[in-house]
Amino acid sequence: MISEKMADALNSQINKEMYSAYLYMAMSAYSSNIGLNGFANWFMVQYQEEMVHAMKLYNYISDVGAPVELMEIEKPPQDFGTALDMFYATLEHEQFITRSINDLVDLAIEEKDHATHIFLQWYITEQIEEEGNDNEIIDKLKLAGEEGNGLFMIDKELAVRIFNPPAAVTDWTQVR
Ligand code: FEO
Repeated sequence: MISEKMADALNSQINKEMYSAYLYMAMSAYSSNIGLNGFANWFMVQYQEEMVHAMKLYNYISDVGAPVELMEIEKPPQDFGTALDMFYATLEHEQFITRSINDLVDLAIEEKDHATHIFLQWYITEQIEEEGNDNEIIDKLKLAGEEGNGLFMIDKELAVRIFNPPAAVTDWTQVR
């Protein structure tokens, strides 16, 4: 059992994760459009990861007997500028998500909601990885330059990223 306030906050987080998925889908489409197919792949994998983040929340809320409330998903931008601009925007968005997860943990602690506190640990670790990935790609883009061969090499590197689904991703109700 979790409080109504905690359930509301977790439901809002579903919306933020769904927006993240939508944002990265838009970045994938933009990347394809400007000929960066490796970037397009990387963002489409990121889209799938965000769907997992949303579904883990969805299933947790259901598991603890609270109502899932789905909200409207905001329209993402369509133009993201250069590859470096796009990764700065990605990092900025992930920093926003990290702050949001931290706020959820603060609320769980305030409410002595140990189950939710433990559940959120996965997201804390995940956010370290997400920000780390973005910082690494930003560093590479700065080193290699944003044009010609450098960008081509990074695009090739991002083309090999694959989605590693949780074991039960073929059944979204089982994603934990
Ligand atoms: Fe679900 Fe990228 O944070």
